[in-house]
Amino acid sequence: MSDELQVSALNSSQPANQEESNFNLKPPYQTPKGVHDILPADHEYYTFIKKVVRHRMRQAGFKRIATPIFEYTDVFVRSIGDATDIVDKEMYTFLDKKGRSLTLKPEGTAGVVRSFIQNGMNQLPQPVELYYIEPHFRYDRPQKGRYRQFWQYGFEIIGELDPALDAQAIFLANKINEDLGIDKLFKIQLNTIGSLEDRKKYTQALRDYYYGKERNLCEHCRDRLTKNPLRLLDCKNEDCMILAQLAPKMNDYLSPESKEYYNDVKEYLAELDIDFVENPTLVRGLDYYTNTVFEFWDAHDGAQNAIGGGGRYDGLIEIMGGQPTPAVGFAAGIERIIANMKREKIRVPSKDDVHVFVAQLGKEAKKKCLKLIYEMRESGIKTIGALGMGSIKQQLKLADKFNAPYTLIMGITEVREGTIIIRNMTKGSQEIVKFDNAIEEVIKKIGEKNLDKYSPGEVMY
Ligand code: HAM
Repeated sequence: MSDELQVSALNSSQPANQEESNFNLKPPYQTPKGVHDILPADHEYYTFIKKVVRHRMRQAGFKRIATPIFEYTDVFVRSIGDATDIVDKEMYTFLDKKGRSLTLKPEGTAGVVRSFIQNGMNQLPQPVELYYIEPHFRYDRPQKGRYRQFWQYGFEIIGELDPALDAQAIFLANKINEDLGIDKLFKIQLNTIGSLEDRKKYTQALRDYYYGKERNLCEHCRDRLTKNPLRLLDCKNEDCMILAQLAPKMNDYLSPESKEYYNDVKEYLAELDIDFVENPTLVRGLDYYTNTVFEFWDAHDGAQNAIGGGGRYDGLIEIMGGQPTPAVGFAAGIERIIANMKREKIRVPSKDDVHVFVAQLGKEAKKKCLKLIYEMRESGIKTIGALGMGSIKQQLKLADKFNAPYTLIMGITEVREGTIIIRNMTKGSQEIVKFDNAIEEVIKKIGEKNLDKYSPGEVMY
């Protein structure tokens, strides 16, 4: 490892083992533990999901934002909280050449909030509604649905405090699940963790309750008791769960305003026909939340592999150095969405399928086809050609492998006669058309609406 760049998981409790150490590496290489290539077949899912997200977000007036892949480490420590698992164990933190501590983003909210403050977005009409689709990094223990690099889509509504916005966030997340065909697989868990004031009182009550019972807690919870007592409520250790059941309830420490706020969220959700389950032990794994918190749990497996989560974070912008500004947001894991779509056998349209394969024989035919391929692509026909290949037979075999529904064939005779053969690869039938009409004839066959035309919109001066 270079002296200048030391990548490590900050305070990782898992020592780098032999398998992960760099010393034995030699070609052919594997991806590092917990990360993977996105191969073309899976890319179709990513593309489709991004399209659905972009559509729903645009429709609701959100604007896209991309924050850097890495930020100063403090951005995450201060926002997510130094007593959380993410900051304590899961961050990819490294020093740059000048010794500054940087961290690969483990989640999206902190960067968006940093950007909101840095770019004076409080001057924009409020609320500012932003969304992102980005890779994130956590030094998590790799297992099904848990990776060290994963994609999230997320959105943040910053600048207004209203229970209707919390309900809208949950509604939007659910709508996207509906579009993707996986909404029935998840149950929305809802809770309130009260205002910062409520939480202070409740946290003290928890500390009092657990005082003298430390021996019955698991090792993690003993640690959490001093750092982050709320997390004791969602520990999965059996003894901790028994104690948590008898622990003081948040509801008894909520101010009348927090109670009213929570009731309003529930009323709006009912109005929007959103089913949810109230879950008083739901606290989320990040420190910045206040009032409403929610997660989309697998209907069978529960919290394990939750597909997404979010909540309100009214104190965060001030903690990060901005004016006090309320906000609410949500993020979902794209790999987990894909796993569920596959589980449901949901297929997505393949934009990568080619329309036409061009086969040719002889130098003159090659010259003509070279230009034809280019012109067909310009017309929106997805075209590949084996310009380097040998016999027509070999080329047709290749066309089959690419699943091209049509092959255009040009040999010496066709060059001489100014024609080209269009072969229907499914039926095995073929017809001869004039070379100059080839594009028109192909478009008739594949259909105008299936053309893949590049249309970025016109530039404006
Ligand atoms: P989060 O619950 O930490 O929330 O992450 C959201 C989702 O990201 C999870 O439900 C899961 O689907 C996915 N995810 C998290 N870690 C991994 C992993 N190691 N591998 C695969 N997928 C993973 C947040 O990140 C908050 N920023 C959400 C938010 C936005 N709250 C307010 N605004």
